[in-house]
Amino acid sequence: MPCNSLVFALPLISLCRAQSAQRAPDFDPLQYVDPLIGSTNGGNVFAGASLPYGMAKAVADVSGQNTGGFSSDGSNITGFSHMHDSGTGGNPSLGNFPLLPQYCLEDDINNCSYAKYARAAFAVNDSIVARPGYFALSLENGINASMTTTEHTALYRFSFPPAAANNGSALHPQIVLDLTDIADTRQNASISIAPHTGRVQGNGTFLPSFGAGSYVSHFCADFAGASMYDSGVFVNSRAGTEPKELYVTRGFNLFYIQAGGFVRFDRPENGTISVRVGMSFVSAEQACQNAEKELPELASDFDGAAQRVESAWRKQLSPIIVEPGGVSDDLQRSFWSGIYRTMMSPQDYTGENPLWLSKEPYYDSFYWYMRSVPGAIIWDSFRAQHPFLTIIDPQSQSRMVRSLLDTYKHEGWLPDCRMSLCKGWTQGGSNADVVLTDAYVKNLTDIDWELAYEAIVNDAENEPLEWSKEGRGGLQSWRELDYIPYLDYDYLGFGTNSRSISRTVEYAYNDFCLSTLARGLGKNTTTKYLARSGNWRNLYKADQRSTVNGSDSGFAGFLQPKYLNGTWGFQDPILCGAISDTFCSLTSNPSETFESTVWEYLFYVPHDVASLIDLLGGADEFVRRLNYFHDSGIAEIGNEPVFLTVFMYHYAGRPALSAKRSHYYIPRFFNATPEGLPGNDDSGAMGSFNAFSMMGE
Ligand SMILES: *[C@@H]1O[C@H](CO)[C@@H](O)[C@H](O)[C@H]1NC(C)=O
Ligand SMILES: *[C@@H]1O[C@H](CO)[C@@H](O)[C@H](O)[C@H]1NC(C)=O
Ligand SMILES: *[C@@H]1O[C@H](CO)[C@@H](O)[C@H](O)[C@H]1NC(C)=O
Ligand SMILES: *[C@@H]1O[C@H](CO)[C@@H](O)[C@H](O)[C@H]1NC(C)=O
Ligand SMILES: *[C@@H]1O[C@H](CO)[C@@H](O)[C@H](O)[C@H]1NC(C)=O
Ligand SMILES: *[C@@H]1O[C@H](CO)[C@@H](O)[C@H](O)[C@H]1NC(C)=O
Ligand SMILES: *[C@@H]1O[C@H](CO)[C@@H](O)[C@H](O)[C@H]1NC(C)=O
Ligand SMILES: *[C@@H]1O[C@H](CO)[C@@H](O)[C@H](O)[C@H]1NC(C)=O
Ligand SMILES: *[C@@H]1O[C@H](CO)[C@@H](O)[C@H](O)[C@H]1NC(C)=O
Ligand SMILES: *[C@@H]1O[C@H](CO)[C@@H](O)[C@H](O)[C@H]1NC(C)=O
Ligand SMILES: *[C@@H]1O[C@H](CO)[C@@H](O)[C@H](O)[C@H]1NC(C)=O
Ligand SMILES: *[C@@H]1O[C@H](CO)[C@@H](O)[C@H](O)[C@H]1NC(C)=O
Repeated sequence: MPCNSLVFALPLISLCRAQSAQRAPDFDPLQYVDPLIGSTNGGNVFAGASLPYGMAKAVADVSGQNTGGFSSDGSNITGFSHMHDSGTGGNPSLGNFPLLPQYCLEDDINNCSYAKYARAAFAVNDSIVARPGYFALSLENGINASMTTTEHTALYRFSFPPAAANNGSALHPQIVLDLTDIADTRQNASISIAPHTGRVQGNGTFLPSFGAGSYVSHFCADFAGASMYDSGVFVNSRAGTEPKELYVTRGFNLFYIQAGGFVRFDRPENGTISVRVGMSFVSAEQACQNAEKELPELASDFDGAAQRVESAWRKQLSPIIVEPGGVSDDLQRSFWSGIYRTMMSPQDYTGENPLWLSKEPYYDSFYWYMRSVPGAIIWDSFRAQHPFLTIIDPQSQSRMVRSLLDTYKHEGWLPDCRMSLCKGWTQGGSNADVVLTDAYVKNLTDIDWELAYEAIVNDAENEPLEWSKEGRGGLQSWRELDYIPYLDYDYLGFGTNSRSISRTVEYAYNDFCLSTLARGLGKNTTTKYLARSGNWRNLYKADQRSTVNGSDSGFAGFLQPKYLNGTWGFQDPILCGAISDTFCSLTSNPSETFESTVWEYLFYVPHDVASLIDLLGGADEFVRRLNYFHDSGIAEIGNEPVFLTVFMYHYAGRPALSAKRSHYYIPRFFNATPEGLPGNDDSGAMGSFNAFSMMGE
């Protein structure tokens, strides 16, 4: 049944009706979008202003939990910056070239603070306003800041209190631009200040947050609302009005120098100075052009720009209709806000990719996007007609797929994780394969499927020298032994020689996807890859038991590591999970499973659940095991691998138990507060899980 809108009837019934469903004409979904949900307690969401998939993302950066720039953790504001990522774990990324408005006591520039933490100021409690396209707060020093964005440009308004509030001695508002980023990764940077116009432009080389190499970012800042008083640069805690240019690098001892520029102004007529910051990955000139094109009327355009972002979000959310059925406003706020966050990233950098020339779209910031794909699989499992994003935004989904393929064409590999124009670290399988195939079975258009097939075969057959950032490792064993061995002998390529269990189940699913695409395209490899998709069984050890809190769990049969010679190794089935108190990533406790337990990875067979149920002793046993997994403290709702398991009761013929289980987790772990997410939002994965769960069926 085709349908052009999604109708969510909360809490239980979902309908999909072609044209019959309509929104009340005065319904505005933005009233339910709260960007501050997940802004503390590890949600790491981006809470500021951005267009859907926008490159410019303006928000205040804080000294505390600053992965997404801002956090509601009560820590200090260190500046306001123009680009961010949303919901990632690990290191913060971007946040380049922050601005900070201040007054210098006794009007002396050397009485101002320049170092990031020295200049930090508290935000006034309850002054924070966050809504789609708009973010604002008041600093304790009396200065107010508000911001909005266009595609590549951030626009700020800083309102300065009258001099009297500063004891009458600080007459000239100062705006500092710091040549740094949130994580202080700058390698080198340049700045120049035009002495007459005050235009500040420059560039810097920075490191990606979870990847290899470096990237160069460029900026162009213009000011309006007051005449310029003076300008200059600062280095460490000292500033001067000469020179007007600066180049800073890492010394041989890597000492991190604080450096940047500043502009001071006469008292603005109405107290407000506007700052427009254009961004580019190509050149400072292009950053200026972006800004001039998108916001030609710098000072007076703020409200118009903010409204354009709001309208873009309204349009983006327009295919969705909710029949609230009496559920609380809170539940509706989590629902809409979660969907809103799924469209923050990946980010549309089309026209801003300096690495290759192409007419294809270029998207960046594919973080855990691939790991959020089980969301799409869940959707599949409900046998709904169209996937979530395909219905609400098929154009963007198709452009993202084209961008992945164009990246393959120019870099030789599909990305698994990619940010800031750099290759990110691979966590398990080659999961772009899943995204591509998902788009194929959902009939996305404008995609070169022959190229997609070639790219996925490349993942499946060719081992790269560095499979830590592309493709798959251990392919020789995969072909000859049909599993990834524990302590593999792999001299063809290099990566962290761990995760043999989680890589085996992920590679199996990747091969299933390849087989699906091959069948669709009439290729003769369908059977070969379908056979390989069963490889997960080769690590199933039927007599393996699991001890939980000192007693036997009562279950036998788990995945276990296996040596090259076929002898079993051992990994405690609860290791790498909450009750074992061990976190297993690429760098901490590398183990045979990645970020989750053997218990959980056994369920990661989305393409072969019927066999899994047989293997585990039938539907009732399967349900008993799922229940134990969720009730024993082993399941961790804060990380994506668990999502599938909430809905697997369907496969045992017990869909009501899936509903019951999602009611156990929602709203307990998903609610409309700043603490309202159980883990990193991972570019909206938590939000889409929440939305998928509320759909029912
Ligand atoms: C401000 O700078 C002047 C001149 O350097 C200095 O005499 C004065 O002590 C400074 N004031 C404060 C509050 O630091
Ligand atoms: C926050 O900034 C204030 C100065 O405005 C400073 O006294 C305080 O130590 C800072 N706190 C943190 C956690 O950085
Ligand atoms: C603001 O709120 C935070 C968190 O509740 C608290 O720690 C802090 O003391 C408050 N600050 C002021 C100035 O009231
Ligand atoms: C900052 O915002 C607060 C709260 O809206 C307001 O009372 C104050 O006058 C503003 N200050 C300036 C300098 O605009
Ligand atoms: C104004 O002067 C008082 C007393 O000297 C001082 O405590 C306060 O920090 C000053 N305020 C500003 C904004 O400089
Ligand atoms: C800046 O740093 C990058 C990365 O370390 C380096 O490749 C580049 O040559 C440097 N540029 C200049 C102008 O020093
Ligand atoms: C950065 O800016 C400086 C000064 O304008 C310029 O010499 C340099 O080529 C720029 N670097 C890049 C990578 O564009
Ligand atoms: C101050 O003037 C600017 C530019 O003319 C305008 O955009 C802004 O809204 C004004 N601010 C206030 C507080 O009146
Ligand atoms: C995709 O198109 C094929 C062929 O027209 C059709 O059989 C299939 O149902 C479509 N799939 C979806 C998810 O719409
Ligand atoms: C599949 O077809 C290709 C040519 O299109 C051929 O080279 C290859 O050997 C065939 N593979 C199998 C398994 O039949
Ligand atoms: C297989 O290899 C492992 C690890 O080297 C070793 O402990 C085990 O004894 C070997 N098994 C056989 C049957 O040789
Ligand atoms: C094991 O211990 C943890 C932590 O005390 C507890 O949360 C969990 O419910 C226990 N599980 C079982 C099955 O005993």
